[in-house]
Amino acid sequence: MLNKNAVPPKPRQKATLKQKPKSPEERKLVKAKKSQRAAKIKLRHAQRKIASLENTKETSYFEEVNGGTGQHTEEAPEVLFQPNPGPQTDFLAAPEREVLYGGAAGGGKTFSLIVDPLRYCNNQNFNALILRRTNDELREIIHKQWTFPSGARIWMTYLEQDKDVLRYQGQAFTYIGVDELTQYSTPYAWDYLRSRLRTVDPSLPVHMRATTNPGGPGHQWVKKMFIDPAVHNSAFWATDINSGETLRYPAAHSRAGEPLFQRRFIPAKLIDNPYLYNAGDYEAMLLSLPEVQRRQLLEGSWDIAEGAAFSEFDRKYHTVKSYKIPNSWRKFRACDYGYSSHTGVLWFAVDPVDETLIVYRELYVSKKTAKELAHIVLKLEEEETISYGVLDSSLWHKRGDTGPSLAEQMIVEGCRWRPSDRSRGSRVAGKNEVHRRLKVDEEKDRAGLEIFDNCTNLIAQLPTLPLDRNNPEDVNTKAEDHLYDALRYGIMSRPVSRSIFDYPSKMLEPQWQPADSTFGY
Ligand SMILES: Nc1ncnc2c1ncn2[C@@H]1O[C@H](COP(=O)(O)OP(=O)(O)OP(=O)(O)O)[C@@H](O)[C@H]1O
Ligand SMILES: [Mg+2]
Repeated sequence: MLNKNAVPPKPRQKATLKQKPKSPEERKLVKAKKSQRAAKIKLRHAQRKIASLENTKETSYFEEVNGGTGQHTEEAPEVLFQPNPGPQTDFLAAPEREVLYGGAAGGGKTFSLIVDPLRYCNNQNFNALILRRTNDELREIIHKQWTFPSGARIWMTYLEQDKDVLRYQGQAFTYIGVDELTQYSTPYAWDYLRSRLRTVDPSLPVHMRATTNPGGPGHQWVKKMFIDPAVHNSAFWATDINSGETLRYPAAHSRAGEPLFQRRFIPAKLIDNPYLYNAGDYEAMLLSLPEVQRRQLLEGSWDIAEGAAFSEFDRKYHTVKSYKIPNSWRKFRACDYGYSSHTGVLWFAVDPVDETLIVYRELYVSKKTAKELAHIVLKLEEEETISYGVLDSSLWHKRGDTGPSLAEQMIVEGCRWRPSDRSRGSRVAGKNEVHRRLKVDEEKDRAGLEIFDNCTNLIAQLPTLPLDRNNPEDVNTKAEDHLYDALRYGIMSRPVSRSIFDYPSKMLEPQWQPADSTFGY
């Protein structure tokens, strides 16, 4: 039963460098408080054990933690579970069809996956399936089938290989939960299980829930399905992870063309779970891990990847909630064009206070002709004054003998551009400039580049862009890099500073320069 008066332990303040105790006395006090907390947790376990041996009621942990007497009052209802405020509560309250609760270790994810289906246990039509990859791992949670007096069922079992999904053929569930989703290297099982989700009871919603840490064999597909498509902790229409297109009802259906269902990603952090965070020991252990694991398991970062070109990318510094850019700020745009692959356009604003570049809009489309693209860009800018645009300079090349180049076709429509720098060495210089922009100025506590959190494609691509194995000075151009190229063109049009080390020495010798590289018409 949920007792509104009972509150979970107050979250410990996150320790930052500035908050670290300075004097030996302060340090001693913090240490003493930590051991007090650890002792309380030990006490709780002992009380539980005594209660089970004596077959009596356990003293409430909440009362202990809150410094109460440890005695139950007559009126106080017994609290069996109360969600931690924040993401755990969001997860339990989420109405979307598919929800992933993922991130740092110890955030309280698995615990909520066990508790979540219990709310329907008084409905005879409720039939839930909770899965982990293997039986061994399952021992951590409870391996059995529960049948409630109402007839509701919760089945906890395992699904090791893709072919094991056939065990569930012909069965129907109203709730499917998967713990540690990234342990599945492909989305096959998750997609198959979706076909087992149905209800005959209109009062029962159908839900699929998953929890996981970042990393593991399924990191990439889980990231594409849940993390990349939208601002975190907001509902979005489910997309096909390969094409990025919204999933829709098929042509023959009465709702043909309407989006199918919604998804949501709820990020987990250790700090959200005071039961584990307050003791401090687990955090200390996570802090000791190598960087990649530390960022995945402690910070819950999905952006870290081995061999990534921009491993310094950190959402905390490089993404910001969108806001209205003041009209007085200088704005410009940059574009990398592709017809059958993708076109990426980014819009930049310059914060006049410290020249920070803000990427405030992105456009990521495919199969758009130059003319169509020009119209889309102009429509988006209707209310704005854009100082200039930089476009991949190869677009000025004529294709065939006659007719205007793609750049000219856009310029004719009123969408003006100037050519990007494509000279030898410009890719490497551009990459260095991106690094310089990503650097966090410790005094200002701000990076030179900030991206609006609704530019989801750029945020998905930039941190995972791999280095070129043959030339670690550059990114791998075979990766999806249209938005990175647009970012590079834009940043290079306003370099922070230029160092002679940015160009190979032979590039520094005087070279032929076009008379006018500024105007593309
Ligand atoms: N609302 C809660 N009330 C009481 N205890 C809780 C609550 N949430 C979490 N806990 C405690 O915190 C512990 C850690 O939570 P849990 O195992 O769910 O974390 P997790 O996010 O799944 O971790 P991992 O990433 O390592 O799988 C649980 O064993 C449980 O004791
Ligand atoms: Mg877990």
